[in-house]
Amino acid sequence: MADSDYLLGVDVSTTGVKALLVDAQGQVLASATAPHASFAPHPLWSEQRPHDWADGAVAAIHAVLRAADTPGERVAAIGLTGQMHGMVALDAAGEVVRPAILWNDQRTGAECDEIRQRVGRRRLIEISGNDALTGFTAPKMLWTRRHEPDAYARIRHLLLPKDYLRYRLTGAYAMDKADGSGTLLFDLARRDWSPELLAALEIPPEWLPPTFEGPETTGVVSVAAAEATGLRAGTPVVAGGGDQAAQAVGVGAVTPGVLALTLGTSGVIFATTDTPMIEPEGRLHAFCHAVPGKWHLMGVMLSAAGSFQWLRDTLAPDASFEALVAEAARAPAGSDGVLFLPYLTGERTPYPDPLARGAWIGLTARHTRAHMIRATLEGVAFGLRDMLALMRASGLAVPDRARVSGGGARSVLWREIVASVLQIELEAPQTTEGAAYGAALLAGVGVGAWRDVTAATSALAISDTTQPIAADVSRYDALYAQYSTLYTTLAPTMHALAAFSEASE
Ligand code: XUL
Repeated sequence: MADSDYLLGVDVSTTGVKALLVDAQGQVLASATAPHASFAPHPLWSEQRPHDWADGAVAAIHAVLRAADTPGERVAAIGLTGQMHGMVALDAAGEVVRPAILWNDQRTGAECDEIRQRVGRRRLIEISGNDALTGFTAPKMLWTRRHEPDAYARIRHLLLPKDYLRYRLTGAYAMDKADGSGTLLFDLARRDWSPELLAALEIPPEWLPPTFEGPETTGVVSVAAAEATGLRAGTPVVAGGGDQAAQAVGVGAVTPGVLALTLGTSGVIFATTDTPMIEPEGRLHAFCHAVPGKWHLMGVMLSAAGSFQWLRDTLAPDASFEALVAEAARAPAGSDGVLFLPYLTGERTPYPDPLARGAWIGLTARHTRAHMIRATLEGVAFGLRDMLALMRASGLAVPDRARVSGGGARSVLWREIVASVLQIELEAPQTTEGAAYGAALLAGVGVGAWRDVTAATSALAISDTTQPIAADVSRYDALYAQYSTLYTTLAPTMHALAAFSEASE
C-alpha cells in the first residue's frame, strides 16, 4: 500500500451503514452514514432487509468518497464490520430467502431450550463458550425450520449482516471468526465451525462459508460492485470483524491489559484473552477476537444509553441529553436512595432473560426528576459492575482501567459515575469512530500498512481520563449491595407482569 492510499471501513450497524475513510497513518478523513429501516411485525421480532444494507452501502461509499474529494481508485483495501448474530439466509442463487432476523430479536426462547436439550447445556458451553441466547443465530435457524418450512427448504447459504455486504461486493461467501463465534455453531477453541454442533442441530455444514482471521483477504471488489460504488475492481476486502471485536480494535483493546467499555444503545465490557476463557455458566459471551489468535470475554447489557434514550423520549421529549445530564447533576451520588433497573428490553448479562423488566425502586414524594435521571445513569453503571464481577469470578485478571466509547461516554457525569461505581479509570480515545475505524485498521493490516493489529493501534491517542470520585465510591458500594439482589427478588413479578401484558395484547 502506498503512503498516499486510503483504507475504507464499512459498518452495517443496526441503524445504518457507515462508511469511513482513513489514511495510511490511521487518521480519519471523512465518514458518511445511510440509515436503514427496522421492522417489528410481531411483538419480540426485530428484522431488516438485506437489500437495504447493500443499497445503503453504495450510498454511504459514494458519499464518503465525495466528502473526502477522492476517487475510489485511491482506496487500497476495505474492512467490513456490522451488527452481530443476524440470520441472513440465501438460496442457491444467492437470493435473500426472508428478512434478516436481528441480534435484538427475542422470538426464539423455545428454540434456545431445544438447543440446550439437543446438545446438552454443559457440552454447548464447552464447545461454543456460550449458552443458547435468543439473540444468537442458531436458534433463528431452528425457528425458521419450525415456523417457515417453505423458506427453510430454500436455504443454501447462511451469512451474517456484514457478510451479505461482502457477498454483494465480491461475490464470495466468507465470514470472520469473531462474528462466526456469535452464531452458536462455532468451536471456540478451534476457531472454526463445530461439526458436533452442526450435526446435533441438523444444519448442513455446506451452508456455512469459510471463516477467516480479521485482517485476511476474503475476496476482491467485483466489476459490477466497482461500477455501483465507484471503487476499483480488484480492491481487496478483508474479513474484518463483528462490531464488538472491530470496536475493540478501534479503541486499541487488543491485548489482555486493555479493557473496552462501550456505552452505546447496549452496554458492553470487553476483555481480550490469550486463550479461549469461558464463564462456566455461559453468562458472559466468549468469542474469537478480530485479532488473529486472540479471544475475548464480553458482557452485554441490552439497554445502556438505550435506557437514557427511553427516559428522554418518554418523560422529557423536548429536552436535550445535555440538559437532562445537567439536571441529573443536581441530585447527589446515590440519588438519595433511588435505584433503577435497566432491563427495558429484557437482559443478556448477567441475567439472560428476555422477560426481565425495568424499574425505579425507592421513590418517595421528596424525589424529583433529577433523582430519576441520575438513578438511570447509575443503574446502568451498576449493571456494568455486575458484568465486571462475573469477569473477576471467572478468573480474569481485570485491568484497573478501560477504554470508553459510545454515545453515552460523551457525558462527563456519566463517565464519572461509571468510573466510581466500577472503581476503575476510564480513558477516552481521541478517535471515536468505533467499529468502522477498527475495520479500516484491519484492512490496513491486511495490505501491509502495519505489521499487525497491535502495531495498527499503538498510535491511538487518549484525549481524556476520568478517575473514580473517592467520596462517591463507598456510597456506590453500599447501594450496589442492594442493587445486586433486586433481579433475583423481582424476577417472578417481572415474569408475571410480562405474561399479564402479553395476555392483554
Ligand atoms: C453483541 C451484540 C450487539 C450487536 C449489535 O453480542 O449482540 O452488540 O452486535 O451491535
